[in-house]
Order: sequence, then structure tokens, then C-alpha cells
Amino acid sequence: MIDVGVDGMAIYVPQLFLEHQDLAAARGVHPDKFLLGLGNHRMAVLPIWEDAVTMAANAAAQLLERTGTSPEEIHQLVVSTESGVDHSKPVASFVQGLLGIGSRCRIYEIKHACYGGTAGIVNSIDWIYRNYQSSRKALVIATDMARYGFESAGEPTQGAGAVALLLSTRPRLFSVDTSLNGIYSKDVFDFWRPTGHRVPLVDGKFSIDCYLTALEESVSHFRANLGIDRGSLLDNLDYLVYHMPFTHMARKAHRHLVEIEAAGRPAEERERLFRKSLQDKVEPGLLGAREVGNIYTGSVYMGLVSLLVTERERCEGRRVGVFSYGSGCGAEFFLCHLKKDLAAVIDGLRFREQLARRTKVSVEEYVEIYSRHRREIRYHPREVVPHKDPFTRFVFTGFKDHKRQYA
Ligand code: CAA
Repeated sequence: MIDVGVDGMAIYVPQLFLEHQDLAAARGVHPDKFLLGLGNHRMAVLPIWEDAVTMAANAAAQLLERTGTSPEEIHQLVVSTESGVDHSKPVASFVQGLLGIGSRCRIYEIKHACYGGTAGIVNSIDWIYRNYQSSRKALVIATDMARYGFESAGEPTQGAGAVALLLSTRPRLFSVDTSLNGIYSKDVFDFWRPTGHRVPLVDGKFSIDCYLTALEESVSHFRANLGIDRGSLLDNLDYLVYHMPFTHMARKAHRHLVEIEAAGRPAEERERLFRKSLQDKVEPGLLGAREVGNIYTGSVYMGLVSLLVTERERCEGRRVGVFSYGSGCGAEFFLCHLKKDLAAVIDGLRFREQLARRTKVSVEEYVEIYSRHRREIRYHPREVVPHKDPFTRFVFTGFKDHKRQYA
């Protein structure tokens, strides 16, 4: 059996954040709605000197450096985003230029709402599998700014960030056997952004129903592929990481899963199973959603990073069920087999360090930043280059001749 999967991961979080406590006060909402009802405490705010390109390149630069991978070793580069910067030129091409990835590399951008990163990962794993004799490596990056309208129901679920994954044979982090993956898709309007709209249109409650149906269907497909019966899924998984548009969506999803898996058992037993499995198998993955918010394509992978940094050696050798959901909709449930001896890989993630380096902004500053239209930003490298730091290695410096410039 050829072992293919993820050799390393890196996460990138922008330098600014907003406290939900402050947003609740400004919106005249009880803070518990955001803190307890949605489970979100802080959200990343994307400064004007950043976009989907810089976040992707900032995540990937860390990953290449840490795994000792030369840009020339990457033969497939896929960037998934729903925050694209150009209708034609892919974010992946900008990233290729910034990272110095060679020309014998297949490069493309992929879009399917929050599911796009998973599509890129699954296809890249299968491509590596087919080409295993040449030891090909793929770089898949999920990068997004989750942006809703001011004072909309989605506003407290915003965020921004990127996760980069290096895929290879004999991976050091986890393996994935894509033949087991449970798949579901359906043409629905739950969350969408018509061309030209700056923010999405959302049917919030319906989107949650679509998500839960997709979970149920993809888990059912996964169980059939694995050859296990309903009721034994939780025994086959040590952890579960769900796509998290807001932190408590994981709780809703897990409640739904337990109700399906434990159907027919007494109510108290189902409740006990829910509480215990939520605490042991789900909560270790919630750090990122709570501190950063929704990062769309990268959200479920930020959940994986959170699990790794929270559990550390306890998760070595364990099985993680991952549920990826994208509106529109498409979903996939898959199994990650974590490797042993992960201490160095986990230390390298430096997620908590990135969270701690952030600067808090006021609601007024957040409104000012998100009211500016990036298309109108003139070329101003001297003003933004000083914002570089060990994690923010690339910044957007504005437009010159209608071309985006980076430094
Ligand atoms: N104290 C404690 N809890 C409180 C509270 C208080 N004072 N006030 C309200 N709450 C609770 C509510 O009971 C509710 O919890 P439950 O759902 O468990 O009952 C929670 O806080 C949220 O309250 P509402 O449902 O009233 O919130 P809302 O209607 O204003 O908005 C939302 C919620 C629909 C999710 C909205 O944030 C939204 O539209 N978000 C964007 C869409 C989204 O995230 N959809 C998820 C599935 S789609 C997907 O996953 C793709 C993606 O990434 C977008």
C-alpha cells in the first residue's frame, strides 16, 4: 500500500483582531449571543496591506522553510479561495511568483465555497498516488477573508487566514486513503456571492440545515466505504474536526451526528455520549474558530491545526474524522491517520505565538478598514513594507498599471 498524505502544515493569521465583546456593545447585542451562542471570542481583521495572495504566500513560506522543501520540488500548486483578486489570473500564479516556484509545475485556483481546499487536497493526493515513482510533491493552500455586511447576522462570524499543506508520499504528519471518503453534493442556494457583490447573500438557517444534511449523507457514504454499521462511527474515530463557520457549528454538527449514531438509545444515554465525545473528540479542535473566526476554505484545516497544538503527543497515531462543507453545496468526510513522533511538526506550527502577536482594533478602526475598497489602493510600498514581521513576509503594496504589486 502506497502511503500518501500530508507531510506538513502551516497556518497564517493576520496581525489585527476585534473582540466580540466590543462588537456586541457597538451592535446593541447581548455579548453572550456572540460569546456563548456562536462560541466566538475574537475575529481576525484583514489589514489593507493584505489579501488572499499575501495570506497564502505567508502560510506557504513558513511551510517550505520548516519542512526544508525547495520551491523547485513543488510540481503542483493549488490555491483554493472564494476571495479571489482577479477574474482571470489565479491567486496561485501570484503565489508562484512570490515563493519562486519553478515553471515545471501545474498551477491553478479552485473554487467551491469552503469545500474548495478539500477538493484540491483530494485531487492532489490522487495525483501523487498515480505518480508515486517520481516522488512528486504538491502544495495546496486554502486562503480566505470571510466578510459579511456591517450589522448583518453573519458579521460576528467573520475572520481571515490561510492554511498551507504539503502533500507527498511517506508523509510525516498524516495519511489519507481517499477511496474511503464519503461524498455529498447538491445544487442549493444557502450562501452565495453573485459576481460584483462584495459580500455574500446568506439564507442563514437554511445553510445550517444544508450543512447538517450534507454531514449525515457524507458520513453514511463514509461508513459504507469503511464497511462499518451505523452506531460504530464514534468507536472508529479518536477525534472529529468539523468545518466551523462559527465555533458552535461544531457542537450542532456533533449533536446531529450523535443523534444519528445513537438512534434508539435512551435520551439520557444519548446526552451522556454527546457530552463526553464532544469534550474528548471535538473540543480540542475549537481554538482557531474561537480566536480567528471563519476562514472559509481553511476553516476545517485550522481546526486540525488547533487539534494538533491542543492535544500534542496525545494525538500521535490517532484517527481523525474530518468533515469539510462548502455552500452551494459540496461536502466530504474523510479519515486522517496521524503519524507518531509529531513533537517537532507541532512545535513548528507556532499558532499560539501568531495569535499572541496580534494587535487589537476598535470597532471604529475595523469599520474604517473594511469600508476601504482594495481596488482603489494606490501604489504605496513605503507605507506598508514596515508592517512586515517574521510571519507577515509579504504585503500588498497597491496597484501600478492595473497590476497588483507585492513586496
Ligand atoms: N445568550 C446565549 N445564547 C444566545 C443569546 C444570549 N443572550 N442570544 C442568542 N443566543 C444563541 C441562540 O439561541 C442561537 O443558538 P442555537 O442556534 O444553539 O439556538 C445562537 O445564539 C445564534 O443566535 P441566532 O440563531 O438568533 O443568530 P442569528 O440568526 O442572528 O445568526 C447565523 C446566526 C444564521 C448562523 C448567522 O450568524 C449567519 O447567517 N451566519 C452565516 C452563515 C453560516 O455561518 N451558516 C452556517 C452553515 S453554512 C457554512 O458552513 C458555509 C460557511 O462557511 C458560510
